[in-house]
Amino acid sequence: PSNRIEHPAGGYKKIFESCEELAEPIPAHVSGKIPAWLTGSLLRVGPGLFEIGDEPFYHLFDGQALMHKFDLKDGHVTYYRRFIRTDAYVRAMAEKRIVITEFGTTAYPDPCKNIFSRFFTYFQGIEVTDNCLVNIYPIGEDFYACTETNYITKVDPDTLETIKKVDLCNYLSVNGVTAHPHTEPDGTVYNIGNCFGKNMSLAYNIVKIPPPQDDKSDPIEKSKVLVQFPSSERFKPSYVHSFGMTENYFVFVETPVKINLLKFLTSWSIRGTNYMDCFESNDKMGTWFHLATKNPGEYIDHKFRTSAFNLFHHINCYEDQGFIVVDLCTWKGHDFVYNYLYLANMRQNWEEVKKAAMRAPQPEVRRYVLPLDINREEQGKNLVSLPYTTATAVMCSDGTVWLEPEVLFSGPRQAFEFPQINYKKYCGKNYTFAYGLGLNHFVPDRVGHLLHVLILVFSGVLMSIVVKPGVTQRPAFLLILSATDLTEIARAEVDVMIPVTLHGMYKP
Ligand SMILES: [Fe+2]
Repeated sequence: PSNRIEHPAGGYKKIFESCEELAEPIPAHVSGKIPAWLTGSLLRVGPGLFEIGDEPFYHLFDGQALMHKFDLKDGHVTYYRRFIRTDAYVRAMAEKRIVITEFGTTAYPDPCKNIFSRFFTYFQGIEVTDNCLVNIYPIGEDFYACTETNYITKVDPDTLETIKKVDLCNYLSVNGVTAHPHTEPDGTVYNIGNCFGKNMSLAYNIVKIPPPQDDKSDPIEKSKVLVQFPSSERFKPSYVHSFGMTENYFVFVETPVKINLLKFLTSWSIRGTNYMDCFESNDKMGTWFHLATKNPGEYIDHKFRTSAFNLFHHINCYEDQGFIVVDLCTWKGHDFVYNYLYLANMRQNWEEVKKAAMRAPQPEVRRYVLPLDINREEQGKNLVSLPYTTATAVMCSDGTVWLEPEVLFSGPRQAFEFPQINYKKYCGKNYTFAYGLGLNHFVPDRVGHLLHVLILVFSGVLMSIVVKPGVTQRPAFLLILSATDLTEIARAEVDVMIPVTLHGMYKP
């Protein structure tokens, strides 16, 4: 609302401040009544250390991975958090400097080393980060914290101890996978990743990790590439953050945010570059949609096109009467949204935060509908005949299909993001409800407090970590809402501040 003074003291800056891990779980102060059936753990990850000594991290995705856990049992709640012992963290602690280059922060060679060994490190190339601050998800019986590189980190979801670093390149031909895999009810995991193949062949690979094995072996050892999507440009794969999965299809949206591989391979290994330096936008291609079947995995060679947008999160997608319905949290235009997520931008005063958000791509929740049955003769005609949507798909003279979306939510500088659905029941199926976090000029603040992310638990509860900056006593809490009407059921307050978290999961 415009008649309210928002964020007068810039309280949101508090969620980008370093904190200490806890030696043991601390009790939370519960008000309201937590349902008796709600027994389990809310696990979340995010950045928790925003500098090493006097060396700052620059980007929202650079801080060292901190794992958080709220345990709920018999109406009582405890809170616990530990830094994940990644190589990036352990070596930074040992050497008291940033050792591994993060997404938007370059690590420089050790100034204490002599000139020869410095020269050597300089030309050895940069080590890929294992700073798994983005998400946590199960594979088989195990739990992994992840970022978007080839490294995932096995963690103990009860003690929050770090177990081991796993290099996916040992099992799969991918250069990394997203932090947003899909999981089927039997435990099969699917993910997508860029593959910079031999002789510069480029593709996006869908990988499949089987469910828990009878012989108790690690399912990752039996993972394989199921199907490949081609790249729109020879040396420039698009950045991919998530993908869609229906009962029988994979949906991959190829956006104009590109990774310049030549930059990546040359400057990356020679001068001080980080991941953010290797992105560029293609202002000509717009956005391409791709489909593949799941079983067997086969690429469908239809060319679906629409105007340029950034995409991070698929909400859901499903098949209906010969169409694929794809719901997305989009950001309009080809300018990379991550350019606006530098910590210096996010820690500015409210007026400056608003000004920056005015220049950034604008968020919009959109529904696209892709026809499966395509007839080249039907030029100029809208192929979408689903009665409940205004989304269109028109066959063009060059054989491509031009898509226009139905807008599901649009508010200037107001994003519906970090979407959640009742995943177990409705992933890949026709559904009604999606829940999300409200970003106001990139600041997560809907409902008046700083609101993190909503996680939906099976019988209709939403859980979110909320912080109250400026309040000295119990500055953070776990909020439990009714999923039906978003009324408060209970809250569990703690006596520590909780920094921003990105994603997570509920473990019953
Ligand atoms: Fe994400």
